[in-house]
Amino acid sequence: MKTIFSGIQPSGTLTLGNYLGAISQFVQLQEDENCYFCIVDNHAITVPQEPATLQHNIRSLAALYLASGINHEKSTLFIQSEVAAHAQLSWMLQSISYMGELERMTQFKDKSSGKDGVSSALFTYPALMAADILLYQTNIVPVGDDQTQHLELTRTLAQRFNNRYKKTFVVPDISIPKVGARIMSLQDPLKKMSKSDENPKGFISMLDTPKKIEKKLKSAVTDSEGIVAFDKENKPGISNLLTIHASCTGETIETVEDKYKNRGYGEFKGDTAKAVIQLLQPIQEKYEQLIQSNDLDDILDRGAEKAAATANKTLKAANAAMGLGRK
Ligand code: TYM
Repeated sequence: MKTIFSGIQPSGTLTLGNYLGAISQFVQLQEDENCYFCIVDNHAITVPQEPATLQHNIRSLAALYLASGINHEKSTLFIQSEVAAHAQLSWMLQSISYMGELERMTQFKDKSSGKDGVSSALFTYPALMAADILLYQTNIVPVGDDQTQHLELTRTLAQRFNNRYKKTFVVPDISIPKVGARIMSLQDPLKKMSKSDENPKGFISMLDTPKKIEKKLKSAVTDSEGIVAFDKENKPGISNLLTIHASCTGETIETVEDKYKNRGYGEFKGDTAKAVIQLLQPIQEKYEQLIQSNDLDDILDRGAEKAAATANKTLKAANAAMGLGRK
């Protein structure tokens, strides 16, 4: 059995991109593997958060994980800040991370460029992400492709630590879905679909009403050619919709292309909306039940306890390897 770890930031309602790139992989993996899924609230505070909103988003993300099919009896679901070892190991890994490595991270460059008051936590964020993963002796990290660079750094830090001190960490592999690894914005298909997009028409939230979903997909930016064909370079908008359609129905992109070959964009967009609604509606119904139940707290309490037991063992070994504290 392999160990799987992944995390999602509670920084707004999840998008269809988060679901197709990450959560749908999680649900499949938990059948055969030992999975840890984390609500990474310490990562969210690398940019300013309003405390009450953050608390709401943490709860909402827990409910969405479960509504999407994460089974708390099979997988460990927990909140990052409730397992102190994450922050502790993060500090230790910062001591072996180089400024140049962190400066090269495109996420840091994107999130900090042109901004005043960029926090130092935003800069050291990848060391915390490495700590998240390495604490569980993770074999595989399922993520969307925007996390590739962070994963490469995680591998580098694990190897560096193992070589410099003592073999302490498993060096993890990344798992990226074949289709859906990068869902693009509906308004600018050259940009990643993101929950922090200022234009809400660019993303589909997992909790959007059917009407909203239909409206957003119908107004998605495409091209004037009128042919439903996958061509990322010349037809990024249609290619993105094809990816969304195929991921939601479970068909291949070629099957969807064939189906809409001689039909217009209007019909294709309408059916893509139907496919998205069909996928999200049952999740939304479960979400409504969960968010109002007390079960959520019990699940998160048990998850934190289970996660801490594993994480503390690794932390102890890492402390000893580095020579921290006493024997
Ligand atoms: P976050 O919260 O931005 O996104 C959560 C997951 O969703 C994926 N994703 C997408 N996939 C496809 N298309 C998109 N448009 C799209 N947008 C987001 C992300 O790749 C990610 O898998 N740094 C991470 C959180 C994190 C983490 C970790 C992940 C912290 N510690 C340890 C894995 C392991 C992040 O900001 O994800």
